[in-house]
Amino acid sequence: MIKVLFICLGNICRSPMAETIFKHLVEQRGLEECFEVDSAGLIDYHEGEQADNRMRRHASMHGYHITHRSRPIELADFTHFDFIIGMDRHNIRALESMQPAGSCAQIMDMASFLRNHQADTVPDPYYGGDQGFEYVITLLEDACAALLDHLSDN
Ligand code: 4NP
Repeated sequence: MIKVLFICLGNICRSPMAETIFKHLVEQRGLEECFEVDSAGLIDYHEGEQADNRMRRHASMHGYHITHRSRPIELADFTHFDFIIGMDRHNIRALESMQPAGSCAQIMDMASFLRNHQADTVPDPYYGGDQGFEYVITLLEDACAALLDHLSDN
């Protein structure tokens, strides 16, 4: 079982979208028995909330249904999950500074998996408009497919 945790700041836009897209691809490939997939945030401000309405609306326009409720990352995640994947440099730096001794989790940058799009980050859409949410989905579909190829090859 490969355990994958997606991380963003609030866990209401990017990382629950990444979790949903990744799970969809895992199901399409019949790999449900091989993967555990979750998401979490660096802040607890939205704990217990559904994903942002705008993210859910754009997700449904692309055929996705986000069911995740926001939760903050906890230290136990660093020992439970094999791969912890941040959406931007701020996420990566925060994860690296939180990682406890003894954790073997690999912290990775989501943008590093992009194949068909050039971007060095999956940008925070929270304070922007519709285009930002569409762009997040475009990037995450690309990166999730490449990430799943990478993890299922190994
Ligand atoms: P996310 O977006 O990190 O993609 O979930 C954000 C959600 C909430 C906030 C910032 C970014 N916030 O400041 O509350």
